[in-house]
Amino acid sequence: MSVLVCGGAGYIGSHCVYELIEKGESVVVVDNLQTGYKQAIHPNAKFYQGDIRDFQFLDKVFKENQIDAVIHFAANSLVGESMQLPLKYYNNNVYGTQILLEAMVANNVKRIVFSSTAAVYGEPECVPILENDRTKPTNAYGETKLAMEKMMKWADVAYGVKYIALRYFNVAGANENGLIGEAHNPETHLVPLILQVPLGKREKIMIYGDDYQTKDGTCVRDYIHVIDLIDAHILAMNKLRDGYDSDVFNLGNGSGFTVKEMIEAAKKVTGYEIPVEIAARRSGDPAVLVASSKKARKVLGWSPKFTNVEEVIRSAWNFHSTHKNGFEQ
Ligand code: UFG
Repeated sequence: MSVLVCGGAGYIGSHCVYELIEKGESVVVVDNLQTGYKQAIHPNAKFYQGDIRDFQFLDKVFKENQIDAVIHFAANSLVGESMQLPLKYYNNNVYGTQILLEAMVANNVKRIVFSSTAAVYGEPECVPILENDRTKPTNAYGETKLAMEKMMKWADVAYGVKYIALRYFNVAGANENGLIGEAHNPETHLVPLILQVPLGKREKIMIYGDDYQTKDGTCVRDYIHVIDLIDAHILAMNKLRDGYDSDVFNLGNGSGFTVKEMIEAAKKVTGYEIPVEIAARRSGDPAVLVASSKKARKVLGWSPKFTNVEEVIRSAWNFHSTHKNGFEQ
């Protein structure tokens, strides 16, 4: 049997494919290469270039392979862009997931693990955030991910498709093999942007707001290493294989770091000065986002190994310092 990874050429998807293959799984990758890179796909994965919104294409992939589980990363994921182009997000994320589920149902594939986000909560009512806290997204991206979760719920009721939705907090870091890492164009995430300064690609890092109610005035986020994140996906997939019911889990480290603390850690790791400039708050940024991952620890038996942010930044630096332009020449 094979695992189908949708979005297996992207940052998180490519890490998943490497881990699955390392664990002896046979892997089929589907990616339209809109934001993913062919070079990020493990050479032993069977790759189909195509779009999850294309039922005929997906149907062929399911018919040509013996797939027993799907791990779904194929989505647009930029909060800012989702506010400018919400319909692009509904089309790719929500409609794309609908077609994927239709193809799964048509081919009797009944297990899916998929990437949801902390953005489904919006401004948290209390910290750390629990899975049954109120969901009230403040951006279109989070709204589409919540819609995907709800679509899965009804697909389970009607067709028995079992799903596990994993709500990620701030993912960072890279595989220790140095072959794959976070490469977005344009880049909007804090860790790779900070590292562009020591790489000589930017002069300084902008800090979006230093007047939040936090210990140093900058936003607090919960940074989780991509390898720990992927471990949880594989545990979740195996849980579904064992007959576990549909469920939702937060994935974070459970401790928060401010933007300034992340910059200090990056200075230590790289040995470079990293000049900063204080800029206005970025709209839609909650002051503090920290996960409670107790449920994932208890139910999935998950235990993140990279609890120190310096290790997370070191692994990201390992990739960026050897791939200055990501996967582009
Ligand atoms: N930040 C800066 N300067 C920068 C970039 C970011 O100060 O140049 C700050 C942001 O304001 C924020 C923190 O660094 O406080 C982290 O920002 P990121 O853009 O790296 O990540 P976000 O917390 O905005 O977004 C992450 C995921 C999203 C997800 C969201 C949930 O990347 O996919 O968490 O709220 F939707």
